[in-house]
Parts: sequence; C-alpha cells; structure tokens
Amino acid sequence: MPETNTTVDERVWERLQDAARGALQHSYSPYSRFPVGAAALVDDGRVVTGANIENASYGVTLCAECSLVSALFMSGGGKLVAFVCVDGQGEVLMPCGRCRQLLYEHRAPQLQLLTVSGVRSMDQVLPDAFGPENL
Ligand code: THU
Repeated sequence: MPETNTTVDERVWERLQDAARGALQHSYSPYSRFPVGAAALVDDGRVVTGANIENASYGVTLCAECSLVSALFMSGGGKLVAFVCVDGQGEVLMPCGRCRQLLYEHRAPQLQLLTVSGVRSMDQVLPDAFGPENL
C-alpha cells in the first residue's frame, strides 16, 4: 500500500480552512446565530468536517467538533493529524475547552491545531490532559 502523506504544510492548512468554511453551510445555529465549521486531516489522508448543531434546550447543543468526531467514526475512524475550526466570517476560532478534551481522545500523537495564536500542539492547548491512560 502506498504511504499516506499526512505532512501538515501551508497547503494542508489552506485546504482545511476551506473545508471548515464549507462546513458552515451545514450549521444549525438559530439560537446563538454563531455558526462554527470544523475540519480535520485524518491519519489516512481523509478530511472530515463538522458544524455546530444547536438545540432549543441550549445545553444540548453539539459543537462543530462533536459532529466532526461523529463524521470521523462514520467514515471509517482513524486519528486526527491536523484540525481547524472557523467562525461565521471564516476566521480561525479557538476550540472551546470541552472540545479540546474531545479532540484529545481522538488525536494522533502529532496532532496540530491551527489557532488564533498560530499552529499549536495538543499539549499546548490542553496541558496535563486527562485521558484514557489515566483510567
Ligand atoms: N461552538 C462550537 O461549535 N465549537 C467551539 O469550539 C466553540 C463554540 C458553538 C457552540 C454554539 O452553537 C455556538 O458556538 C456559540 O457558543
């Protein structure tokens, strides 16, 4: 099998930002009017996306990262190598704390995140994380 190229260069970030912006159209955010789109590169080269899906019971809202993780599993699983999420203007957005935990569970060891402060590792955005190894 040919080796999958999961090198995360500038082209990958552009592609992921485009995919995240495309995902915005699937957002269901009538309550906050704050659509979020997310996209990630998987360790087999796939790109998965997600958008926030809100609920009249506000706390039941699914963040864009939740639907991204669902898409990850429903399209074959794997581990996340690169991630970005964007706001309704298409600008890079910081994933919320809960979603950093969500991403941590499904990260490849080398997961990188494009953030408002530039490219960061999982450890930088969620230091001393609690994970499966703590159970
Ligand atoms: N939101 C996400 O989808 N992901 C984040 O990481 C930050 C927040 C959504 C949840 C809610 O639908 C809206 O943004 C406003 O909080």
